[in-house]
Amino acid sequence: MWGDLQRAAGASERLVELINTRSLIEEPATTVATASSARPELRMDDITFCYPTRPKQPALQNFTLHIAAGKSLALVGPSGAGKSTVFELLLRFYDPQQGRILLDGTDIRAMHLKQMREHIALVPQQPALFTGDVRYNIAYGKLDATDDEVIAAARAAHAHDFIAALPEGYASHLGEMGVRLSGGQRQRIALARAILNDPKILLLDEATSALDTESEHQVQLALQELMHNRTTVIIAHRLSTILHADTIAVLDKGQLIATGTHEQLLRDCPLYTRLASLQFRETEASAERPSGEQTGSEQLSAARYSESASAPGLSVPG
Ligand SMILES: Nc1ncnc2c1ncn2[C@@H]1O[C@H](COP(=O)(O)OP(=O)(O)O)[C@@H](O)[C@H]1O
Ligand SMILES: [Mg+2]
Repeated sequence: MWGDLQRAAGASERLVELINTRSLIEEPATTVATASSARPELRMDDITFCYPTRPKQPALQNFTLHIAAGKSLALVGPSGAGKSTVFELLLRFYDPQQGRILLDGTDIRAMHLKQMREHIALVPQQPALFTGDVRYNIAYGKLDATDDEVIAAARAAHAHDFIAALPEGYASHLGEMGVRLSGGQRQRIALARAILNDPKILLLDEATSALDTESEHQVQLALQELMHNRTTVIIAHRLSTILHADTIAVLDKGQLIATGTHEQLLRDCPLYTRLASLQFRETEASAERPSGEQTGSEQLSAARYSESASAPGLSVPG
């Protein structure tokens, strides 16, 4: 018993600590009305930001980025480039030391925190599912949602069919003793949760882990529909996602290196070309494509080829 008691004592100390944690984010005494446009634009204006635990090393530096109203932007870059930090600042989990974030032209620090965040849905890389049934997990952000709303959100996330096929449908229990879902299924539940609130801004951190082919395809279809006409920022790892975004922004070491379309960046941004050939995963089966159309990976190998062909080391002197 003594060991158990000691562990429990340690845990309760930590619990009290957590409960007493104060947020560093302060709300202004008087707040301005939050953006009301259906498709807001976002602007990060000359941001420099260091995490409180690393005050000397900026995670973002002189970072300026514009996300046009109703458009989608894919963030790509090596690990540690600052992609997740962009999300944390957009959600105002931290305030930058320099610069501003504007939502429809208004500094988010002047806004009512809860109202501001209500416009935004975040789908994290590894979404948390709670012990409870499927319905509860989808309705978590809007507990008064009707069954019809929950089902509509699940349909939009391409999750309805697999949920309906579970032993108890939407009442199927998730969690330790419940049904086990695949990575792709979990992601689609998280998407449904995000859609249910019909957010004006969608932030999506795409899973890096491999999904089964069917799930991957379904997630892709759901994403395309969700991104359409909604201000969306995606930390993208899959080529198919990147190709569907309106603009691609390349980040490296806390800075914005380039923005453009896939073709522009393949041409003008060596880092992007390198990332594209090494990291982006191709999902579409090339066999399904009509002949004559290049698949992404064919384009990439062509790009890789032309890059290496023009590399100085390979040219024959004389
Ligand atoms: N909570 C944190 N505290 C301190 N440093 C962090 C924290 N989160 C990220 N960083 C650092 O900030 C930089 C950017 O990280 P991140 O935004 O997570 O990159 P990415 O998502 O592109 O991989 C990295 O150097 C990382 O180590
Ligand atoms: Mg990250």
